[in-house]
Amino acid sequence: MRKFLVLLLVLPLFGVDKLILKKPPESLSKYYPPKSKRFEWIGNMFEMATSITGIFVNINEGRWDRAKEWAERLSKTYERTSKMVPEWKKFFKLELARNVVREVERKNVKGVVRAVKKLGKTCQRCHSQNLLSVKLLYHFPSYENIKVEDPVDFSEVKFHKYMEKLAKDFKTIRVFLVEREYKKLSKKTQEFVERFKGLKQTCQKCHNSDEEVAPFVGKSFEKALNNLLTLVKNKEFKKVPMALMISASYCSKCHNVHQIPAIVREAFSR
Ligand code: HEC
Ligand code: HEC
Ligand code: HEC
Repeated sequence: MRKFLVLLLVLPLFGVDKLILKKPPESLSKYYPPKSKRFEWIGNMFEMATSITGIFVNINEGRWDRAKEWAERLSKTYERTSKMVPEWKKFFKLELARNVVREVERKNVKGVVRAVKKLGKTCQRCHSQNLLSVKLLYHFPSYENIKVEDPVDFSEVKFHKYMEKLAKDFKTIRVFLVEREYKKLSKKTQEFVERFKGLKQTCQKCHNSDEEVAPFVGKSFEKALNNLLTLVKNKEFKKVPMALMISASYCSKCHNVHQIPAIVREAFSR
């Protein structure tokens, strides 16, 4: 048996040349929090993937009766799933799932492989158009309701507004550097550092421990920001650009993990 081939077939995305990010249909939301805590859609997905494995594990061991049970399970789940999201009905080819059952009944190994492969194309067609956006929309938290208390002016602002403030501070510091406005630069740097450190209050909305967030806001983060402050205090302005870049690397680290899913979520939430 060509086990390797079969393993590739059950990967949800493999060798596609196009990935699309499109807002998933509203009717899918029934199967995800907050409307449902049971994740019915993804449950069916795993059931189908498991069934395909079940078919081949049993064929390998010569247990065609069990292979048939798995094939029927696959076909039934596929059919049930096809009715869950009306907008996605066109992705399902019920005949191809029934064909897998028929080939198993005929105990035709090559035929089964071919039939599963054909069915797998229908899985993949939908995955290439919908899997990424569904993952981003339903498996990542939203930042929209997170409020941040600004330690500089004591206002309470939304998360993305706070980001804009941080970015503005950062750019303003660079302007003052170019203009050699060192007094203003000192004040702005202090505000920037205070704001950046203040961002730590948001981490606990989603993370449970300091340990978990330490890679981005732990000791090295504190050290980088304190170093920036010290340079400004000691008027070592030539070294400030480098220290600024190092501080900003903590923006990028955090963005690499959090910002991409947030951008997609936000785009779809309007
Ligand atoms: C109409 C669209 C559609 C079809 C058809 C479809 N899927 Fe999916 N599948 C999805 C979406 C959307 C997700 C992402 C769900 C999520 O992460 O909550 C997914 C996720 C999965 C996953 C989980 C991937 C992961 O990394 O979490 C597996 C496994 C899977 N599908 C298997 C299959 C198999 C096998 C078939 C065909 C027999 C199939 N799917 C057919 C839309 C589809
Ligand atoms: C709205 C929710 C949310 C907020 C707020 C948030 N994070 Fe995260 N963070 C996540 C999610 C989701 C992941 C992906 C891993 C996971 O699911 O736990 C993650 C992953 C991480 C990781 C990678 C390590 C890991 O646990 O997987 C680090 C480090 C991290 N976050 C640091 C931070 C820091 C520092 C802050 C505050 C400045 C922060 N996070 C604020 C949701 C959040
Ligand atoms: C929690 C980790 C985290 C850290 C640290 C962080 N950001 Fe962000 N940033 C995010 C997330 C998440 C978004 C997307 C927010 C959204 O779309 O609502 C974002 C978005 C932004 C945006 C786009 C603004 C918008 O309207 O969405 C800018 C600009 C920005 N960040 C600047 C910065 C700067 C500058 C720093 C460092 C001084 C920084 N960020 C540090 C997580 C972080």
